[in-house]
Amino acid sequence: MAEKNKLIVANWKMNLNVQESSLFLQKMSETVRKRRDVTVVLAPSTLSLQSLSLQVNLRQFKLAAQNFYWRDQGAFTGEVSAAQLKGVVQYGIVGHSERRYLFHENDKDIRNKVQAALRNQIKPILCIGETAWERASGETADVLRDQLVGGLANVVSEELEDVVIAYEPIWAIGTGESAAPSDVAEAVKVIRTTLKHLYGAKWANKVIVIYGGSVTSATAGSFLLTQGVDGLLVGGASLDAHQFEAIVETADEATK
Ligand code: PGA
Repeated sequence: MAEKNKLIVANWKMNLNVQESSLFLQKMSETVRKRRDVTVVLAPSTLSLQSLSLQVNLRQFKLAAQNFYWRDQGAFTGEVSAAQLKGVVQYGIVGHSERRYLFHENDKDIRNKVQAALRNQIKPILCIGETAWERASGETADVLRDQLVGGLANVVSEELEDVVIAYEPIWAIGTGESAAPSDVAEAVKVIRTTLKHLYGAKWANKVIVIYGGSVTSATAGSFLLTQGVDGLLVGGASLDAHQFEAIVETADEATK
């Protein structure tokens, strides 16, 4: 296993304003303080990152950017770079399907973002996953391999311990229809085997692999006990403090 702690990432997407984000963090602090065997990462809107970074106790929570541009600076109106986020966040989500499909990010953009994150001491959370059509056509393994090879093309072995791979089947995101733990186990096996082929077993084992897609407090436990799964990427359920706290508690128990 890549690390003992389970990794639970809350992706708030384009929800919660600065004040609401701050209140939410405050609300969850008590639960998370008691759950030391879980690494809890919050991904609020870019606008909230600066203020949360001043409020947050880094021993309880880490922060993640939901997105960033891969160049460090320059004439790129409206963009925020990984270099600007350095020191504010510890993680950065890269290649989320909403970025790939709604904002047309391609493998080259994603590869550049993975590198920009690592160059700026930000751990990339590289999201990969198949569409419903690809799944129905039996292409899941091929898609995962292609997205891994594409996203990690310029990553060297020594950087792998800072890389997180999130298996997020696109048909399971925000649909209420999560993958079956057996499907997740199968996909994670493909991911770990591909990493082994690319980097060798010693390095591949350092990579943290998590699952995302309609995770709730009721289903979190089954994924966390799935072979090879080191944590969860939670969207909708992370906006419900009770559910998210329950997920963190389940993750803590899963490490015992
Ligand atoms: P969901 O989102 O939990 O709402 O399906 C997951 C994600 O987008 O990472």
